[in-house]
Amino acid sequence: MVRALVPGSFDPVTNGHLDIIGRAATMFDSVLVAVAVNSSKTPMFSADERVRMLREVCADWRNVSIDAFEGLLVNYAFERNATVIVKGLRAVSDFEYELQMALMNRRLNQDIETVFLMTGPEHSYLSSSIVKEIARLGGTVEGLVPNRVEELLRQKLAK
Ligand code: PNS
Repeated sequence: MVRALVPGSFDPVTNGHLDIIGRAATMFDSVLVAVAVNSSKTPMFSADERVRMLREVCADWRNVSIDAFEGLLVNYAFERNATVIVKGLRAVSDFEYELQMALMNRRLNQDIETVFLMTGPEHSYLSSSIVKEIARLGGTVEGLVPNRVEELLRQKLAK
């Protein structure tokens, strides 16, 4: 049985993330989506809120579970018996940073492989940061995030 880890900030989860999670769910026996608690970024949504929204929008995938993690990703993968890290690649601009992380993670633990999935072209320009900026400035994020996330963004910005 192969368990894959899909790590990220997911602040908030976008349709691009869901594309990667859904495709990983068809490739691996089980998929653990891991929300990074201590990223250097200041998140709009707390780790708990991000875990809850992911649980809601991934509820239809029976082999997908959601959790939050702190510390080194490879240590968390080892603790949770995940042997594959799945990352999405949107454009060449993602490549250099992702390559650096994949090589460093392999140096830290050679038993854990990083696998890259190319995002669907319809998601190649999509990021959580751009979604937050559009929402903050009053634009529509319909079609970029699940409807539930659109609602949560509206609620968060109304506060
Ligand atoms: O969605 P993001 O912000 O691009 O996700 C980045 C993330 C959380 C996957 C990355 O920052 C990470 O793996 N953080 C955990 C800390 C760690 O292991 N750092 C060393 C990586 S070489």
